Amino acid sequence: MALFNKNKEKFSLNDIILPEHIGIIMDGNGRWAKKRGLPRTAGHTAGAQTFRRIARYCSDIGIKYLTVYAFSTENWKRPKEEVDAIMKLFKEYMIEAISDFQDDSIVVKFIGDRTVFPPDMLELIEKNEQDSKDRDGMVLNIAMNYGGRDEIVNAVKTIAQDVKDGKLDVSDINAQLISDSIYTKGQPDPDLIIRPSGEYRTSNFLLWQSAYSEYCIMDVLWPDFKSEHLDKALIEYAKRNRRFGGI
Ligand code: IPE
Ligand code: IPE
Ligand code: MG
Repeated sequence: MALFNKNKEKFSLNDIILPEHIGIIMDGNGRWAKKRGLPRTAGHTAGAQTFRRIARYCSDIGIKYLTVYAFSTENWKRPKEEVDAIMKLFKEYMIEAISDFQDDSIVVKFIGDRTVFPPDMLELIEKNEQDSKDRDGMVLNIAMNYGGRDEIVNAVKTIAQDVKDGKLDVSDINAQLISDSIYTKGQPDPDLIIRPSGEYRTSNFLLWQSAYSEYCIMDVLWPDFKSEHLDKALIEYAKRNRRFGGI
């Protein structure tokens, strides 16, 4: 998409401040399918394609970290047929990523409670992470069975155990220690969180990390989300005045 500044002069993304870390709540697959009279699973298939395109685009424009919300700790409430279809899509993507990404620069990570996944999926998760860990490109965090509250609960348990074992003192507990005890350890907090589908809520996404994230709620369903929508969010982000509690 051609981008224009307020004087109607053409400019490129190189001219604006880009977020270092983007989070995306990939929402609206079900509504997209419903609108077309298709089963919800067709929406997830289309959404998976959008994910492939947008992840590639973010990497191409130089985004350093991208975290995508693919499946929440609450999404298990959905009908088994739908959950099974989503898990099948994960599996396909992970198999494809291993071979297609061989000469790629993207570092693939999974955030969320992976202990619930069957051994074959766990193997694919670990292989993707292992094969890509030494690359130097964008870090792609795929949030699968991820819940912000669950993540904080797990961090609290780890810290409590360390205190109990005498490895930590209560006075050592601070915000940095919590940041270092969650899935995104060592990564910057998201600067921008995009939620397509028009819903104004976090739905348990990156609760700790999003303390000062800029939100961009967009009225487009995820399967219809194009690089132009991302550009729009980036332009909007560049105009925001981030104060972090200051003036
Ligand atoms: C997001 O799309 C995908 C997952 C939560 C797995 P939805 O399936 O939530 O789509 P809507 O919100 O029902 O349209
Ligand atoms: C959030 O969307 C989870 C993902 C996109 C993976 P949901 O569709 O689950 O959120 P709610 O239920 O509308 O809050
Ligand atoms: Mg939804």
